[in-house]
Amino acid sequence: MNQELLKRIEALEKKYQASGQDLLAFLDGLLYANYITYWDYIQLDTLLSLQKPRTDIPDEEIFIMYHQITELYFKLSLHEIRQIQAWDEVPANALMDKIQRINRYFHALTTSFGVMEKGMDREQFLQFRLALIPASGFQSAQYRQIEIGCTDLIYLVEADKRESLQTSDLETQLANIYWRNGATIAETGEKTLTLKQFEEKYQKLFLEEAKIAKDRNIWQRFKDCDTDAETKEKLISALRLLDINVNVNWPLQHYKTAVAYLARRPADVAATGGTNWQRYLPPRFQKRIFYPELWSEQEKEEWGKQWVETTLEELK
Ligand code: HEM
Repeated sequence: MNQELLKRIEALEKKYQASGQDLLAFLDGLLYANYITYWDYIQLDTLLSLQKPRTDIPDEEIFIMYHQITELYFKLSLHEIRQIQAWDEVPANALMDKIQRINRYFHALTTSFGVMEKGMDREQFLQFRLALIPASGFQSAQYRQIEIGCTDLIYLVEADKRESLQTSDLETQLANIYWRNGATIAETGEKTLTLKQFEEKYQKLFLEEAKIAKDRNIWQRFKDCDTDAETKEKLISALRLLDINVNVNWPLQHYKTAVAYLARRPADVAATGGTNWQRYLPPRFQKRIFYPELWSEQEKEEWGKQWVETTLEELK
């Protein structure tokens, strides 16, 4: 028998023996097994069966698929965050690598958002959206999990409560998280149904996430990372880019899309989640900043501003 083949069989025998398994049975299994196919490996039939429009309006499928694509990119980002959280020690190069991956995912999302902004017929959109109330992208749990994984929870608390809740426990901070602001009826202070359902399904999970992330979110991991000054500078640049990608570029592109479909004179179209979206969505109002220590006072003051102004100018 071929020497190479013999070596492999011996190595396999060792491996199977070590776990008390019979190599011969596994080799017989190989004889009977079918070759794997591309479509089985990536679960293509299942993937392509997941688009289930609620209406017969053709462009609704675009809306569903692009949301699904986005959720997969969110999952990719969380996949990196989970690995960052699992480390005992923080290796600088690997941290850099993972932050850059998340940056690439968000860049891809921001630059592909034209699929939504320009790629659907507005009249069709305004029709099929009525069949989706009160569901909203606002209810994307992965988006919130990414935020929780990127920074200390206090930075996600509503801007005007951050100072007073600085030392509060995670439950209290979570109860004052910025996104509740966007889904509360201004006149009555009551939560929208979109928010009530979201909290019912995910609030416990978010608290668990926040507990894990407390000492292991990306900001904390950066602070734990013992490295030279040059690498630290590179990490800071990557973190600043992450802040811009997640808290300015993507939200602004998303906001621009909401304007394209919903902004109309004299009155804007109501959002499916019932938020006062023109006041809520623009980053310069939310001032969500993951890494405030990495920005100057002026940069924080002007957070998202220039971009919004140019965007709105273009739409006038
Ligand atoms: C035509 C396309 C879209 C429009 C018109 C739109 C509109 C809106 C509006 C008005 C809100 C505010 C909440 C509400 O009242 O519903 C919102 C929130 C949100 N949407 Fe979209 N959206 C679009 C596409 C998407 C896509 C593709 C995603 C990807 C998952 C997404 C994710 C989100 C998220 C995460 C929020 C919460 C943002 C925050 O809390 O700051 N949206 N959207």
